[in-house]
Amino acid sequence: MAFTIAIDGPAASGKGTIARQLAARFGYAHLDTGLLYRAVGKQMLDGRDPLDAAQALTPEDVAGEGLRTNAVGQAASRVAALPEVRKALLDFQRAFARRDGGAVLDGRDIGTVICPEAEAKIFVIASPETRAERRHKELVEAGHDLSYDEVLADVHERDERDMGRADAPLKPAADAVTIDTTALGIDEAVARAIAVVEAAR
Ligand code: C5P
Repeated sequence: MAFTIAIDGPAASGKGTIARQLAARFGYAHLDTGLLYRAVGKQMLDGRDPLDAAQALTPEDVAGEGLRTNAVGQAASRVAALPEVRKALLDFQRAFARRDGGAVLDGRDIGTVICPEAEAKIFVIASPETRAERRHKELVEAGHDLSYDEVLADVHERDERDMGRADAPLKPAADAVTIDTTALGIDEAVARAIAVVEAAR
């Protein structure tokens, strides 16, 4: 039987961590849909046409190295504004969402476009400064050399592009429960997300 948990929110809001923990807790498959756009964005940076890249995307592309950088994140948000690219990635995501045994998908448009029928929808937010701090820490720990201000500018730029685009903009579904993680530790944020899912089961 299908049971879909849709988790949307801006960059570094905590949605990825929440999604992974929910998947582990309920034994559901997990798809980080940002990786699809990152894999296409990375190929665009390498000179490939983004629509060709989206249409020919393979699991190896999505599991590839170097997808978590700021530059690739920016490229991902540029290709994600192209309706044809989004369309090319739609069927795969929809099929994943409705697979037997349960699925957790995190992204920007899961509850609104990919799976409006999802049984549980969570919209994860946090202040831009908190998100930039988290992302800065992650990037520095991974050996990237960039300042907090650069990361904050990147967060703002990506927010504007993701919320302002015409096709599948970042916004909460009408029936999503919002969790603001600005002042929450990860355990508390996950506990709240679990409560939302339990209430829908
Ligand atoms: O979540 P992540 O930061 O990895 O996503 C990278 C970019 O991919 C986002 O800034 C957004 O533009 C795009 N994206 C999207 N729809 C999704 C997931 C990601 O447009 N469902």
